[in-house]
Amino acid sequence: MELITTRIKGMEDVVPAESHKWHTVERIAADTAASYGFKEIRIPTFENTELFVRSVGETTDVVQKEMFTVQGRESKFTLRPEGTAGTIRAVLQNGLLNEALPQKVFYILSCFRHEKPQAGRLWEFHQFGAEMVGSASPAADAEMICMASSVIERLGLKDIELHINSIGCPHCRAKYYEKLREFFEPNKDKLCPTCQSRLEKNPMRILDCKSDICKEIGKEAPLMIDYLCDECKEHFEKLKGYLDGMGIKYSIDPKIVRGLDYYTKTVFEFITTSIGAQGTVCGGGRYDGLIEEMGGNPTPALGFAMGLERLIMTMEKQGCEFMTPDSCDIYIGAMGDNAQNKAVALTKILRDEGYHAECDVMGRGVKAQMKYANKIGAAYSMIIGDNELEAGSARLKNMTTGEECEITLGDKFADRFADIHTADMFSAE
Ligand code: HAM
Repeated sequence: MELITTRIKGMEDVVPAESHKWHTVERIAADTAASYGFKEIRIPTFENTELFVRSVGETTDVVQKEMFTVQGRESKFTLRPEGTAGTIRAVLQNGLLNEALPQKVFYILSCFRHEKPQAGRLWEFHQFGAEMVGSASPAADAEMICMASSVIERLGLKDIELHINSIGCPHCRAKYYEKLREFFEPNKDKLCPTCQSRLEKNPMRILDCKSDICKEIGKEAPLMIDYLCDECKEHFEKLKGYLDGMGIKYSIDPKIVRGLDYYTKTVFEFITTSIGAQGTVCGGGRYDGLIEEMGGNPTPALGFAMGLERLIMTMEKQGCEFMTPDSCDIYIGAMGDNAQNKAVALTKILRDEGYHAECDVMGRGVKAQMKYANKIGAAYSMIIGDNELEAGSARLKNMTTGEECEITLGDKFADRFADIHTADMFSAE
């Protein structure tokens, strides 16, 4: 029995009483994205495994340890561990690069990573992400960072620190990799087996390993930022200038390497101390080589993604405001079959006008119906019985003040309800 009544670890339900929190974050994120000219893209949950191996990188933790993959008849499929690879695949496959550049898209989607579950780290989690394709200018980096920062600000979050770094381009990275290999070589045998194999292929990944030993050994490793070529240096300087100009505070954190292979030049993270160890609420950066790597024409691009669970956790911790959950405008109770017919019809009329209206579907007596109306927090209630049917009107009760007034059950019912509702809303202000 336990197998069917217990959810899988690392997965979470969102119960109805919590869904308004998700709506708050999703709406603010989507509205902010729209104000920056981003349009929504929707992509499949499954992609060919090869897509993630090629883009996220075969030596990353995500690909080596964390993907949920199934063997299809001919090839393997993977539940997306992040949104960028699938989004860029969709941008290419749908010819979006032939349209006006930059292409600006955003997404809200679920991702899957087989990591050790803990607070803020799940197997299935959700991201709001945005990708801008076609601009090599540091002004685009500044715009993406500004947009992420606007979302965070509009959610009401405080004390979220922006950390930025540059991890260079393939040109300047070659020299840096040599230095890294020299640095790790004396301790090679102490590294975890995964990192030993990373030393040759992709030594920067060692700096991102979750093993404590590898972390300790890598503490004094050389930093990419000290090996940037002139172009990467200039790009980073210009970005800092734009951020300063926009009044966006940041600190330079040369230790940010990010956990995905596609990044070049700018990388950034927004971090909070409010929710414990998993405090990175947003991560992103430039990935100028990815589109070419995926078979497209060389095209610069960049983006970021935010973890919705972590954002909501932080909002809760900091006492931020969420949208008011939707509540019932009116409950129409009924006594007897004829009255029930009328109640059903009137409820539909109000629903069609956009109100949240409810009536009995349980076959309850009037007392129990009113108890239910109270429980669901209906703003108004009324009861229809034979007398009301005959008179063609009923008493409408304001459930907060207890005040009652007459309301017609005829053609003007919806108009009359709208007038009362609006007048009460104004007098309550
Ligand atoms: P990422 O840093 O791997 O970047 O993930 C982005 C955000 O997703 C993290 O900052 C965190 O808030 C959330 N997140 C990641 N893993 C988990 C998890 N296991 N449980 C809960 N939340 C998690 C990316 O995914 C890139 N695609 C971002 C990007 C877009 N870069 C360029 N464009």
